[in-house]
Amino acid sequence: MPVFGLGTWMLTIDEAKDVVNTALDVGYRHFDTAFYYKNENAIGSALKEVFAKGEIKREDVFIVTKLPPIGMRAKDVKHFLKLSLDNLQMDYVDLYLIHMCFGLQNVNDTDCFPTDSEGKHLMDMTTNLLEIWREMEEMVDLGWAKSIGVSNFSIGQIQRILDNCRIKPANTQFECHAYLQQNELVDFCHKNGITVCAYSPLGCPGVTTDLRKTSGPETEFPILLNEQLISEIATKYNKDPAQILLKFLLQRGLAVIPKSSNLKRIKSNINVFDFQLESSDMEKIRTLDKHIRMFSFRFLHNLEKHPECEGVID
Ligand code: A2P
Repeated sequence: MPVFGLGTWMLTIDEAKDVVNTALDVGYRHFDTAFYYKNENAIGSALKEVFAKGEIKREDVFIVTKLPPIGMRAKDVKHFLKLSLDNLQMDYVDLYLIHMCFGLQNVNDTDCFPTDSEGKHLMDMTTNLLEIWREMEEMVDLGWAKSIGVSNFSIGQIQRILDNCRIKPANTQFECHAYLQQNELVDFCHKNGITVCAYSPLGCPGVTTDLRKTSGPETEFPILLNEQLISEIATKYNKDPAQILLKFLLQRGLAVIPKSSNLKRIKSNINVFDFQLESSDMEKIRTLDKHIRMFSFRFLHNLEKHPECEGVID
């Protein structure tokens, strides 16, 4: 898995073509999408055009997509991976992740967070992670996924999979940045030979106040990109704050998938392979760990009653 990928949550269909082309031009070979992002088709179409030109081939890129919460039943795994492959116009993905540890009812394959007439989310309380994992393993056998993994899982949930699997999770993805360093979870994954991909590595500066409110108490969170310490370190290395935050994670041995639709930022974000942070600067950035989590999915009604919500709400 290329350690530097492009996150695509919130990437719109109109933006996809330019974004994919620019990213490929400046060296990205890892694209992270999800059924829930509703942009698989646009990303797939852009890549298909590129592949048709012949310079970059399917096997040169690493494509990640994810089983949505509305597909969290063993019988639905194959169905949702087929929908993703059709969207992407590909016959396999490089990595298929279980997007979240909890499930919602599936109403129409489209509404990823369905609600009842009172606007309450239709949680599916019957989620069985081990049964779902067995079906994920079948997707590898079928050749539809080269590798499989999880996302937004806790140590306990990953351990349960490890204790009961035929194919180990190759990778796990979770929110990780200087304000939420996740040392215990990262150590656990690395000790177990599971690679880690940090999502929202910049601290998700694009999240609106409204989403922040749903993610926890109504506090004003500081903006990681505006941290004085990060600016000072950036000046020292003649880099920008985003590059410092990304390099910090890369030097911890994590993969990163910053999202950007801005062509300049797509280019500058990946320009991090020509310098090394000194260990004293790594230590300084380690002091910023404040356990500020942008994504806790608290906006879902009854999430706390879901039997697998452990590790999601904290
Ligand atoms: P944009 O798409 O306009 O570039 P994260 O991956 O941590 O969730 O961050 C994604 C958000 O950060 C997006 O809103 C993106 O906006 C913004 N972003 C990406 N790269 C940079 C950068 N180099 N400087 C500032 N903001 C950035």
